Amino acid sequence: MIRYFSDKQLFILETQSSTYAFALNDHDAPMSVYYGAKLFSPEDLELIGADKMDGYRFREYTKMFKYRHEYSTYERGVYDEEALKIRYSDGVSDVDLVYDCHEIKGNTLLLTLKDEVYSLKVVLTYEVFENFDMIKRYATIINNGNKLSIEKCLSATFYLPNGNYISNTFAGNWAKEFTKVTTEITEGKVVYETRRGVTSGPHFVPFVSITDKQNPATENRGSVYFASLAYSGNFKTVLEKNHAGTVKIAMGINDFDTVFSLDKNESFTTPDVYIGYVDGGYNKMSEKLYDLQFDYLCPRGNIDKPFPIIYNSWYPYLFDVNEEKLLALIPKIKEIGAELFVIDDGWFTNRVDDRRALGDWQACKKRFPNGLGIISDKAHEAGLLFGLWVEPEMINEDSELYALHPDWVLKYETRPMSKMRTQMVLDITKPEVYEFCKNMLDRVITEYKLDYLKWDMNRYIAETGKDSDFFVKYTQALWGLYKHIRYTYPTLLIENCAHGGARSDYGMMPYSDRINRSDNSDPVDVLKLHEGFSTYILPRYAGGAGNVATSPNGQNGRVTPLKFRAHLGMTGSMSVGFDLLTAKKEDIEGIKEYIKYYKTIRPMLHSSYLYRLSSVLDNGVAVWQYTARDRSKAVVFIFAHGVRWGEGLDNIKLVGLKPHARYEINGKTYSGDTLMKYGHNIRKPGGDYYSEIIEVTEIK
Ligand code: DGJ
Repeated sequence: MIRYFSDKQLFILETQSSTYAFALNDHDAPMSVYYGAKLFSPEDLELIGADKMDGYRFREYTKMFKYRHEYSTYERGVYDEEALKIRYSDGVSDVDLVYDCHEIKGNTLLLTLKDEVYSLKVVLTYEVFENFDMIKRYATIINNGNKLSIEKCLSATFYLPNGNYISNTFAGNWAKEFTKVTTEITEGKVVYETRRGVTSGPHFVPFVSITDKQNPATENRGSVYFASLAYSGNFKTVLEKNHAGTVKIAMGINDFDTVFSLDKNESFTTPDVYIGYVDGGYNKMSEKLYDLQFDYLCPRGNIDKPFPIIYNSWYPYLFDVNEEKLLALIPKIKEIGAELFVIDDGWFTNRVDDRRALGDWQACKKRFPNGLGIISDKAHEAGLLFGLWVEPEMINEDSELYALHPDWVLKYETRPMSKMRTQMVLDITKPEVYEFCKNMLDRVITEYKLDYLKWDMNRYIAETGKDSDFFVKYTQALWGLYKHIRYTYPTLLIENCAHGGARSDYGMMPYSDRINRSDNSDPVDVLKLHEGFSTYILPRYAGGAGNVATSPNGQNGRVTPLKFRAHLGMTGSMSVGFDLLTAKKEDIEGIKEYIKYYKTIRPMLHSSYLYRLSSVLDNGVAVWQYTARDRSKAVVFIFAHGVRWGEGLDNIKLVGLKPHARYEINGKTYSGDTLMKYGHNIRKPGGDYYSEIIEVTEIK
């Protein structure tokens, strides 16, 4: 709900658990008043002290640092992190924003601010999602005067009550993505950002949570602030505490190497940022973030259906794919019960390794004499869905495309081209390159009758210097291509791959149905990766070429039992990635049985909340409770690795059940209340690679 109290010029935005308030000061500038636990009588709030003063006129030196500008700008005497920095045509680099007007439309507030000297307006949009305990914010900069430059334009700044806080986000490197990073917000700034043109995975992710230092939240208890930026390019999260104790969070497009200009009557709108507050720990926060994705962000139509079980050619065969092998696989895939056959990298002309051919998107005549159509048809005849891997943004120097269009590549004529994985980036901001990619996507999707497309991206962006707003234009072009295929082929399932989850951001959620969480398929490492990934992304999105992959594992040689891999595969989007043509009979029979069982719990798993009850990092036992959104069922996964000193768990307290309902576990019944307060006895997980699944079903 949004309320405006005109006597105090006070705006109150309320969600189920939070109150967010700001008011106009004596100079009509909007200043933050409060953000936190929901207040009974928010109308009591008012601006006090420095924030209320007409700071702009008097500039009282000792109080200026206490200002909490709702959308803070770079201006005379304000030195904290700003959201907006503009250089006007006369060289003035100072924006003084005051109230112009506002409009409340249902759950949306549009607050228009103006610079009284220059013809600039800024519209701040606040959309309140009461049930999700979140507010979506973004800003639109409208220039009605001479051409100006935007040197920085974040989506929002917001403030926490003065205090001591710690923040959590995720980072890592390739194959070690989504590792928790915990930092104290001391005086100064903590900056999480990427400058690589992609958002996440092997780098910091555009998501952060913040909790009180003295009374920190746990998974199931305590208050947490959080913010998630819907952007798929360079971003910046700044957590700042100044010497007056003001704690500010700023988030948006990274200003690194980025300046845009706006001509007269042009405008720019920032990406959305979702900011939230919950009291109930990190599991409650994840629950709200899942609700946002289930009910708002993810592709309508697809998100309501369970994701099909994939068989992917990558781990078993890498680039060594051909017609004979793939046709021979079809009955095997059918036999084990997988539902979607994906040909990964290696299917196109000359693509025998990762050094050549990107850009030449024609089926290799030598290895596929009849094209890919025959494989698609045979897969469909067998009742399987059919999918294909592409990497549209990329090109190899050793390709026909490069010979034809060397000027399509991002490069500097005076420098050697930067190559990562021997490949270069196509400049999709050029209309002709954009068209080429769009036509290629249309052609492969229609010609091969694709049900699924895996869009990969295996390097970072560099050599962007020709345009100062290149990074932003690149992301817009990328979204344009994704949008095109999403809306032209609404039932096509799209995997947003980008090697190790490098585009795991809310900007991609409307276009993708699955994310490659990591290239690391070792189940022990996945126990850690999944905790981080699933904190802010739906667990059903957790993909990869094969999360039931080969053993010994391709990355680290670890040998693990099929049961452990299969159980873990059920916790995300299952994909089988071991060689079915040479597999032992017992492995074929084994995976068949696991898939058969998985299908019985999948509808619930794919529309559930994941509560992390125990972390493998703490005691060697991971316990993950998947819980139906209506709380009528839960499936608890237990995985052990590295248990020492006889430690481990023998009792687990479930969460999120209906206290008064009765649930059945292995033939015995318990009340939800007992299971949550006393817990459920489990057999002490013994030995490495122990795994178990417990079904908890409401008796109606
Ligand atoms: C990186 C991806 O993450 C893998 O799953 C696989 O598709 C390879 N690229 C193919 O080159």
